[in-house]
Amino acid sequence: MPTILAIETSCDETAASAVFFQNKKNKNGIPHGLEVKSSIVASQIPIHKKTKGVVPEVAARAHVPQIIPVIQKALHKAKMTIHEIDALAVSAGPGLITSLMVGVEAAKTLSVVLQKPLIPVNHVEAHIAANYIAGDKIMLPAVALVVSGGHTETILIKKIGNYKLIGRTRDDAAGEAFDKIAKLLDLSYPGGPIISQYAQKGKKGNIHFPRPMMDKNNDDLSFSGLKTSVLYFLKKYPVTQKQQLYDICKEVESAIVDVLVSKAMRAAKEHKAKSILLAGGVAANTALRGALCSAAKKQNIHFFKPDIKLCTDNAAMVGLAASHHYLAKKFKDPYHIKANPGWELV
Ligand code: KG4
Ligand code: ZN
Repeated sequence: MPTILAIETSCDETAASAVFFQNKKNKNGIPHGLEVKSSIVASQIPIHKKTKGVVPEVAARAHVPQIIPVIQKALHKAKMTIHEIDALAVSAGPGLITSLMVGVEAAKTLSVVLQKPLIPVNHVEAHIAANYIAGDKIMLPAVALVVSGGHTETILIKKIGNYKLIGRTRDDAAGEAFDKIAKLLDLSYPGGPIISQYAQKGKKGNIHFPRPMMDKNNDDLSFSGLKTSVLYFLKKYPVTQKQQLYDICKEVESAIVDVLVSKAMRAAKEHKAKSILLAGGVAANTALRGALCSAAKKQNIHFFKPDIKLCTDNAAMVGLAASHHYLAKKFKDPYHIKANPGWELV
């Protein structure tokens, strides 16, 4: 059984994981028997809370003392030594250049010293691949809705490894909208989980924010108008009570979820998708998971979402994405791999 040691440092999580799989793939190209043996994440959230956002230089420095202990823990949890792995995989972009470099240089060094093949993985493919653990249940073609702090896009998957852009945000990503609106509301970082938590106590109907681009007959998305609406609303009605804050959070979350669900369903219908794969940090949002699941069910489309722990940045998803590249022997010379902050999957 091949084993991959995967590394992820593209933004503010230092992560390593051991992923196992069988030496053959299913009809869609997903390796059989995918199994996450360990997934260790050292989060920098407490550091970035102070600045209510990620300062790239601070993030990169914080990866350095964590990278080796995190790799050690991932191997220990998987009950294996570094000599037992068959290959290395690393998230090589997109992301913050100096953060990516920490993981990429660690992976290159291990690859050269251990003489094991190295697979550079696209971080967006990794988010999508968190769903590949569902294996044979995934029916193609599929539409992936990738929603993170840096990305918001719908992607058509005709075959595993073959990705085509359907639509993307013209401005802010959905996670970025959550984070920026949280900042306007004087909430902590990252904004998504807090807005989502407060939204549970909020009431619907008191406040209305726009659903940008929702009724436009195209696949584009946009979230900066929502942020501006919240800004003007707060100027007019400063928050004086907790309930008011909860109601705002409820409406912000509903607006974002409504737009995402509508665009994902539009893409699925347009491309006759048999499955919808939800991916990225915002995929951890309970309201989005529920709403997209119901909408997909109504259209008889299979719906897949990663385990909550595999939604925000982690290395297991990097190993899951690398598994099909491993079987296709898509190895790169470690001496020539570079962190690529602008690497576009589609
Ligand atoms: O995928 P990720 O960990 O990093 C990037 O690749 O960007 O996504 C982080 C984003 C942040 O913007 C965060 O606010 C958002 O995911 N997020 C959520 C939730 N958990 C994380 N947004 C809404 N609801 C959540 N529960
Ligand atoms: Zn990510």
